[in-house]
Amino acid sequence: MGIPIRSGNIKRQNEAMRLTLATFVGVVFGFSLGVSFPTLALTRMNLPSSLLPSIDLTYVDDNYSKISTKSLWDAWASFRRDRSMYKKVHKLNDTKIWVPTNPRGAERLPPKIVKSESDFYLHRLWGMPYQDLSIKPKYLVTFTVGSDQKDNIDAAVKKFSENFTIVLFHYDGRASDWEKFEWSKRAIHISARKQTKWWYAKRFLHPDIVAPYDYIFIWDEDLGVEHFDAEEYLKMVRKHGLEISQPGIDPSSSFTWQMTRKRDSGEVHKKAEERSGWCSDPHLPPCAAFVEIMAPVFSRDAWRCVWHMIQNDLVHGWGLDFVLRKCVEPPHEKIGVVDTQWVVHQSVPSLGNQGQAERGRAPWEGVRERCNKEWTIFQERMAEAERDYFQTREAIPLNSTGQ
Ligand SMILES: *[C@@H]1O[C@H](CO)[C@@H](O)[C@H](O)[C@H]1NC(C)=O
Ligand SMILES: *[C@@H]1O[C@H](CO)[C@@H](O)[C@H](O)[C@H]1NC(C)=O
Ligand SMILES: *[C@@H]1O[C@H](CO)[C@@H](O)[C@H](O)[C@H]1NC(C)=O
Ligand SMILES: *[C@@H]1O[C@H](CO)[C@@H](O)[C@H](O)[C@H]1NC(C)=O
Repeated sequence: MGIPIRSGNIKRQNEAMRLTLATFVGVVFGFSLGVSFPTLALTRMNLPSSLLPSIDLTYVDDNYSKISTKSLWDAWASFRRDRSMYKKVHKLNDTKIWVPTNPRGAERLPPKIVKSESDFYLHRLWGMPYQDLSIKPKYLVTFTVGSDQKDNIDAAVKKFSENFTIVLFHYDGRASDWEKFEWSKRAIHISARKQTKWWYAKRFLHPDIVAPYDYIFIWDEDLGVEHFDAEEYLKMVRKHGLEISQPGIDPSSSFTWQMTRKRDSGEVHKKAEERSGWCSDPHLPPCAAFVEIMAPVFSRDAWRCVWHMIQNDLVHGWGLDFVLRKCVEPPHEKIGVVDTQWVVHQSVPSLGNQGQAERGRAPWEGVRERCNKEWTIFQERMAEAERDYFQTREAIPLNSTGQ
């Protein structure tokens, strides 16, 4: 009896042969390029990989070998054409590229190739790139979630149309729990254990990355959205010129500031009356220019500013709501609460329970304590930064005017 040869073995042998062939072809190409274009600042090492992307073995399938040789030669031919054209242009002009208006660090590149902004759009692996996207969502919504709140988020996501890119930040590491939802396939899932909404926002929502989105929702997971529709919400936001906003909070659901409380009259509101003594100025938080951090919505421009204000180490974001106003002008007109589309704050314990029990205290106590500390630190940093700025500003004009 002969040794049974399983088809897997044959397949592996075939692949090994293909790999050998591909490597051989790649080396020959690299070598011949080195010979034919000694003046180009291209190394033999980087050529095969840029010239022969199809050699990436993760994409090798059974039909690959039939097309590989031809496509390699095609690529080679077009590469030669491009290179000889490049050489001609290059000879005419020996100047080095240096474009100060390019993004910092990219000055050596011709501006037309620089793509300084990106997006979360999902592409196909085949076909032509320009045909990949049937729809380019104009809005972005992110939820910071744990698996326990799956059903609540499922209900929430349904209030956001196909015009929204959905991003989930998983703080419990259980991203695979969400696969049962159809919409989950088109969502972006980012998983990092026990991190907060603002930690994710700082790291994954850089203004250059979310640049195509007109509005960005950065929401908690415990909001009831029965009386909310995202497209209708944005109609109100546009109509009333809100750069930073939130939906009204159902007053029966939990403690709310007067400002963020849903009102029955009107479409939006931009100011409120608090208890006497709480607002030194009716144009300042918490009486105006104020939304909370649980369900904020930012315009692209406002987010570009707010992102810079988020501190890398102050992960809870406490105190941020009181200074959002520094990012828009005039704040008491561009910050407001939408009343026609409102939410219920369910106040379920979530990230608080991801804390650590210490010295006989419940996990959430340590988390709450840290929140308060961060608030103090943030206020101090902001005050100091402003003090420094105004001090140097006073000095400069004095000198520059020669006084
Ligand atoms: C190879 O090509 C044939 C015919 O073109 C096709 O039916 C088959 O599915 C292909 N195999 C793979 C693995 O793509
Ligand atoms: C070479 O570059 C200079 C500027 O650096 C430009 O003025 C000139 O027109 C260029 N010449 C050619 C042939 O492109
Ligand atoms: C999505 O956006 C388009 C273009 O603005 C709009 O016509 C359409 O009604 C929107 N979809 C929904 C569900 O509102
Ligand atoms: C102002 O100018 C004087 C003299 O030119 C210089 O010594 C001083 O450092 C300047 N002050 C500031 C704040 O730039």
